[in-house]
Amino acid sequence: MACLSICTYPDPVLRQKAAEVADLDKQSRQLIEDMVETMYRAPGIGLAANQVGKPVRILVIDLQKPDEHRGLIVLVNPKIVGAQGEITYEEGCLSVPEFFHNVKRFREVTVQGFDRHEKAVEITANGLLAVVLQHEIDHLDGKLFIDRIGPVARDVFKRKWKKKLKDERDRT
Ligand code: NI
Repeated sequence: MACLSICTYPDPVLRQKAAEVADLDKQSRQLIEDMVETMYRAPGIGLAANQVGKPVRILVIDLQKPDEHRGLIVLVNPKIVGAQGEITYEEGCLSVPEFFHNVKRFREVTVQGFDRHEKAVEITANGLLAVVLQHEIDHLDGKLFIDRIGPVARDVFKRKWKKKLKDERDRT
């Protein structure tokens, strides 16, 4: 297994619509292993393949503590087939480090896809898991949580980010 580097905003790969996975060949399986390790190492509770520079429809999620590895969910070609209610949650993203903002999403979602053994799975989730599923599926569609905050908040984000990138440039 290898730890992959995480692409950060405004990397164009984060804006790509990820392609469906036709079959889980050796390469895709390796990517899944590497994504799992990268998520635990970060640490994060979810990671989409775009975030490691591979625009294919694969995501990994684990809401448990990174050293426990108990709640791992791997989804290939995930699709939201049902949604209801509303929840507001303060989100962050490994690709947009150090920025957090409330995002309004569905409170409950049903997602269909395949697991890493190509077995069809359906997950109905609410609360945090529903939020993370929607956040990661957004990634696969080239969307980031900053697209879902209001125009004023996005403006604040853009100014902060510009300054952050400038500070980083100045330091090197
Ligand atoms: Ni994210």
